[in-house]
Amino acid sequence: MAVTFVLYAHATRRGKFAVWEELLDELELRGDEQLLDLGCGRGAVLLAGARRLPKGRAVGVDLWRGVDQSGNAQSATSRNAQAEGVHSRVELRTGDLRDVPFSEGEFDVVLSSLAIHNIKDVEGRRRAVAEAVRVLRPGGRLVIVDIGRSVPLYGDILGALPVSGLGVRSLGWRMWWGGPWMRTRVVTASRTVG
Ligand SMILES: C[S@@+](CC[C@H](N)C(=O)[O-])C[C@H]1O[C@@H](n2cnc3c(N)ncnc32)[C@H](O)[C@@H]1O
Repeated sequence: MAVTFVLYAHATRRGKFAVWEELLDELELRGDEQLLDLGCGRGAVLLAGARRLPKGRAVGVDLWRGVDQSGNAQSATSRNAQAEGVHSRVELRTGDLRDVPFSEGEFDVVLSSLAIHNIKDVEGRRRAVAEAVRVLRPGGRLVIVDIGRSVPLYGDILGALPVSGLGVRSLGWRMWWGGPWMRTRVVTASRTVG
């Protein structure tokens, strides 16, 4: 019981942030990219991305559902962006991941952290993954981090979409939500050029 608690607390307070810093390192951003975070919530990943984009833009889309994250509100994320000094390059939009309010090919990087599993039905998750690819420019990079049995489904869905370099891997104990039975995986891919 104590181990479960410690692992959960570590994943929430430190593990998630440390792992995302490494995932962002892997992207080798230039600093002028257009980045979209699908289901940004209070901004843990969105703001980490914005810190790396002095000449770019970090956009967060969310429905701000309190049931999925405590204290979830656009105003809270906006305050967090201000506190981190990245407010000028952060844009927040209210929108559904199944119908993202952006044009095709608008983003260099699309991220999503622990959000798509909150969509309860498979068709909704399929639409969210398809939307993530739609708004990526050719050659743009996709990183989906999530829990649960639907993660392999994201790989299957992406296999039928215009992407290359598809990979799925576990993110290790730092993102175990209490134990290995609730582990986190990452799905990565690039939008096909041409
Ligand atoms: C567990 S929180 C994760 C927040 C943030 N990405 C992070 O890692 O800290 C899941 C987020 O997904 C959002 N969300 C769930 N379903 C959504 C949907 N259909 N469209 C937009 N956002 C959604 C929730 O409002 C919530 O902010």
